[in-house]
Amino acid sequence: MKTMQFNEAGRLQHFLGIEGIKRPLLMKILQVAQSFVSSTEDGQQTVRKVPLLRGKTVMNLFFENSTRTRTTFEIAAKRLSADVINFNINASSTSKGESLTDTLHNLEAMYADMFVVRHTASGAAHFIARHVKPHVHIVNAGDGSHEHPTQALLDALTIQQVKGEFAPLRVAIVGDILHSRVARSLIFALNILGVSEIRAVGPKTLLPRHIETLGAHPYTNLKAGVTDVDVVVMLRLQRERMQSALLPSEHEYFQQYGLTEAVLEYAAPDVTVMHPGPINRGVEIASSVVDGSHSVILQQVSNGIAVRMAVMAMSMGVALS
Ligand code: CP
Repeated sequence: MKTMQFNEAGRLQHFLGIEGIKRPLLMKILQVAQSFVSSTEDGQQTVRKVPLLRGKTVMNLFFENSTRTRTTFEIAAKRLSADVINFNINASSTSKGESLTDTLHNLEAMYADMFVVRHTASGAAHFIARHVKPHVHIVNAGDGSHEHPTQALLDALTIQQVKGEFAPLRVAIVGDILHSRVARSLIFALNILGVSEIRAVGPKTLLPRHIETLGAHPYTNLKAGVTDVDVVVMLRLQRERMQSALLPSEHEYFQQYGLTEAVLEYAAPDVTVMHPGPINRGVEIASSVVDGSHSVILQQVSNGIAVRMAVMAMSMGVALS
């Protein structure tokens, strides 16, 4: 998919996907994101408020449900001192037949500077980027099964905070990889960041054909797939995107692909467990692992704020890109 992420000067204009981004830019985003994080006196991490987007208007356009992404984009925009509008699609005139482009042009007329877009259709953020005025910036908050680029960045920031270096790491991504925009963006990001090995683990029906061409090694056996890995990223089953029965029951799935403490014994002793959410406890991951000492799942959520601040500020040209 053609990205159009950069303007004629080669600077970030929109943030639509990880595919095709160069390592220095990814590292820069992580550095800018980390610069927004500070520690309080009792060691808690927090995110500073800065005036970088004062006077700008950010509109969240979520055509698909979200808990973490929408909320952390809103907090991030407020921490950047922007005005934030959460556009309520369900209560909008879309239901009266107004087209997407007409809706966008009306929101532009209200002086929007940035649209943060989540949509069920792959390519929706790219489509919108092609139809907005030149001063309007688009950030992809997840498009169909294509990409979820800010999720990959917050995952990468979390890995960097916990592990330090990317190069020595073996990472297993486990579950419904076929339908996962999170997996696609993360595989792109981890390859660009130069990890040692990426494994895609799941039932054959939920692994994309030719996954090797994305830079991940396929495994259909969970224990083999997590053996000696440093990071395990668990994914939920995206039943809403499955066209047909690709799976046995959830109980059988958990027996074969659920991450339990016993399965985690096969990984490196200091393995880090991640999950983008939403979690289905007892389906892809045991509750004890979600809440266990290896889990950084809530740290991922917190990092969403700093990463989304960095992406918004850099796309608007107010932080280095
Ligand atoms: N990880 C993620 O995209 O979660 P939400 O769907 O809640 O935004």
